[in-house]
Amino acid sequence: MTIRYRVARSLLVVLLCAPGLACGFAVVFPSRAVAPVGGMISSPSSRPSSSSRSVRTNNNDEDEKSGGGSNDGDCSIAGPPNPSSPSFVANRRSTMELLCGGMALSSLLLSPSTAHAYAASDDDAGSGSMKRILITGSNSGIGMDAARRMAVRGHEVVLACRTLDKAKAAADRIRTNVANDSEDAVDAMALLKSLKLTPMECDLADLSSIDSFVRNLRNDGEYAFDAVCYNAGLARNVDARDVARTRQGYELTVGTNHLGHFYLNHLLLGGNRINENGGRIVVTASSVHDPDSPGGSQGATATLGDLSGFERAVADGSGRFDMVDGGWYNADKAYKDSKLCNIIFARELQRRLSADERTRNIIANSFTPGLIVGTGLFRDQNQVFTKVFDVAATKLLKVGETTHYGGGALEYMTLSAKVGERGGGYYYYSEPGSSKYGDGAFGRQFDVSEVSKEARACDDDGRAKRFWELSEELTLNRTRS
Ligand SMILES: NC(=O)c1ccc[n+]([C@@H]2O[C@H](COP(=O)([O-])OP(=O)(O)OC[C@H]3O[C@@H](n4cnc5c(N)ncnc54)[C@H](OP(=O)(O)O)[C@@H]3O)[C@@H](O)[C@H]2O)c1
Repeated sequence: MTIRYRVARSLLVVLLCAPGLACGFAVVFPSRAVAPVGGMISSPSSRPSSSSRSVRTNNNDEDEKSGGGSNDGDCSIAGPPNPSSPSFVANRRSTMELLCGGMALSSLLLSPSTAHAYAASDDDAGSGSMKRILITGSNSGIGMDAARRMAVRGHEVVLACRTLDKAKAAADRIRTNVANDSEDAVDAMALLKSLKLTPMECDLADLSSIDSFVRNLRNDGEYAFDAVCYNAGLARNVDARDVARTRQGYELTVGTNHLGHFYLNHLLLGGNRINENGGRIVVTASSVHDPDSPGGSQGATATLGDLSGFERAVADGSGRFDMVDGGWYNADKAYKDSKLCNIIFARELQRRLSADERTRNIIANSFTPGLIVGTGLFRDQNQVFTKVFDVAATKLLKVGETTHYGGGALEYMTLSAKVGERGGGYYYYSEPGSSKYGDGAFGRQFDVSEVSKEARACDDDGRAKRFWELSEELTLNRTRS
């Protein structure tokens, strides 16, 4: 263990022994059940729960506020923890578990660090060919950071956000930040003029909003995206007991993170809105989909089981499910399940794209951006707790990443020539042939990695195919409005 790590750990222990913190956050800072998201129907659960240009690409304060969180926004990413330390992963985990006091929030916080920024280099980013890029959830967090990065490179970015106001505000914020970061006024003017940002409304928790979004795309017959980033996501308070629902009655987390994107993808592909000559689809997933990962092993683990939640919702025509596997509602597991859905969706999508002559040149990949406490993803968790974690993970233990790092990872997935060579991959911080979460995975590269055992099993036992069919049934054959 390095001296720095020992010091950080000691500091945290002292911090946590301070009155109020050591005795368990659940008691001293009772967690706040999440307020229903605008437009959602919240109902009680039936059962009890268990650049190439002269612009600095660093985030400024405005960016940080946008995510509802904070991070240092430094473009230069903190160096990785000592990869040669054999006890690194175990110690970090035990420290974080200590911090978590056993709370399920730890599952969101224990994703291994990805440590280096992999923003696409100028060569890599294909700066010669300007692209049209769609990013969902681009008014906050890594989606907004990626939007700014790619807009500054000259690409046209469609900001698909929950409301038009949020999308417009995000475009304004990106413009302001770019202007503030320009080295002189002439530069700023030229850059601002060149930015191609299109704000649009697309509420993924309401299929009719997704319908409108696609209907409102420019209709000149040639308007297709070169890249589509299914990035939006939410995580409810881990202690939430009530089942929040989307407009169509799906459980909110899986309904938004998976079914909303599934339906959007169906409309975009069906309407020839994704460039059939080298178009790219990127899905923002997470390592918490994997029960064998440090983050994914905390609390209830991700599993889609026999899909009986989906099966029943289709069979009875209600579309209402609490959990994909038919089990009792658990908000923490619902988030992990939704990320497993993202992985299975991306892999099955790739198989379907390859099998169809029309779409075989489109590729789909997923990735995890690592642990980024400073984005808005943790907005519904206990805020005191989350702030302590942010400082601990990012500044002290240096196991967390910045929002700017996450934006770079999404940019890399979207623009890098290397990623464009192949689809069906899940990108993560690892070295081919190294153990996924072991010490060998640190200090290495952002590359294709292994998905969870269950995600692989779903390919073999037919569940991935059935999962796709049920997602179709839920979203396409609906009579609910
Ligand atoms: N942060 C991490 O540690 C981490 C780790 C692994 C994976 N991820 C994934 O990274 C992605 C981006 O998250 P983030 O960390 O950048 O958090 P974030 O700042 O909260 O960004 C999430 C975005 O999704 C949007 N969104 C949520 N519900 C939506 C809906 N119904 N319709 C349209 N947009 C909606 C949010 O919009 P509103 O502002 O309107 O809610 C927001 O713009 C998510 O898929 C998340 O699961 C994050």
